[in-house]
Amino acid sequence: MDQITQVTHIDNVKLTEDKKAVVFIDQTQLPNRTVYLTADTEEDCFDAILKLKVRGAPCIGIFAGYAMYVLCQKYQDKPYAEFAAEYKRQSAYLNSSRPTAVNLSWALKRMEKIVEESSEVPVGEIVEKLGRECVAIHEEDIAMCRKISEYGLSLIKEGDGILTHCNAGPLATSRYGTALGPMFLGKEKGMNFRVFADETRPLLQGARLTSYELQKAGIDVTLICDNMASIVMRNGWIQACFVGCDRIAANGDFANKIGTSGVAILAKHYGIPVYTLGPSSTIDMNCPDGEHIEIELRDPNEIKEKFYAEPMALKEVKCYNPAFDVTDHELLAGIVTEKGIVRPPFDVNLKKLFG
Ligand code: MRU
Repeated sequence: MDQITQVTHIDNVKLTEDKKAVVFIDQTQLPNRTVYLTADTEEDCFDAILKLKVRGAPCIGIFAGYAMYVLCQKYQDKPYAEFAAEYKRQSAYLNSSRPTAVNLSWALKRMEKIVEESSEVPVGEIVEKLGRECVAIHEEDIAMCRKISEYGLSLIKEGDGILTHCNAGPLATSRYGTALGPMFLGKEKGMNFRVFADETRPLLQGARLTSYELQKAGIDVTLICDNMASIVMRNGWIQACFVGCDRIAANGDFANKIGTSGVAILAKHYGIPVYTLGPSSTIDMNCPDGEHIEIELRDPNEIKEKFYAEPMALKEVKCYNPAFDVTDHELLAGIVTEKGIVRPPFDVNLKKLFG
């Protein structure tokens, strides 16, 4: 396998051969160790999402689908009413692990719909249907990432400099990824880009995962600290910003990793177009605008202690640690989806494609 094929064929999430557990790469240990973990209890599945062992909006959705299939096999001998009640409880529990990425609730609802609509069906058959559905969620994501990569590639040309924030590559999705997909696809076609990856404080998804994926694929990547985005833009090195998304509201506002809105504000100053790239599973037409997106708040020790040999702030110092921010749709040149590139006015054009 060549470099690209290896990176874009990472099995970041899958079922074990006997389908009794989910296997996934522990993304918290990359790039130093590639460790596969298995989860077959609700606590382990919850913990994997909460602790970002599986992370990235589409990947979380795929994982949740597999997790529900694994969990519901344990009570498939129960009568329908008990099965459905237990299913709902576990689904709600997993859904409470992280609030911002809509792919989690999207995948869980999609699976739960099957249970709700199958009250006349033997429980064993419902479980089989759920098994097919979680695989379909994964396969559809692979296809959507490929289409997004094609549309994204049409926005850039040989030699362009692209700035990205956080990680929206194969590890966060499946195969090509979303915001990094055009670079992987372009490289396959013999094109070269210069990618600048924000390190992405505080959990360093850009440093640990994005620069890892691109470097392994032989793509020219330069890692920068988040506060260096302005200088690389001013230097004229950036022709476009490609970022992922965790929830796109009906008016085009979108939540993505904390710091994304700052990148977009800087890019506006320098006249650089900003695109968010994401599958329809990340579009929440029930959410009118960014004001309605719940922003996850995380443990302050991620800022003060994690990744440091010793704490770099006093224990008693207060921290504010939002995991995401909302980028205003007015800062956005386009939303790249598997159905095409959505341009302003986003409220009108998103409705046409996804209403
Ligand atoms: O907290 P994370 O690492 O799950 O945040 C991930 C992001 O913000 C990604 O950019 C987003 O989920 C898109 S992944 C295709």
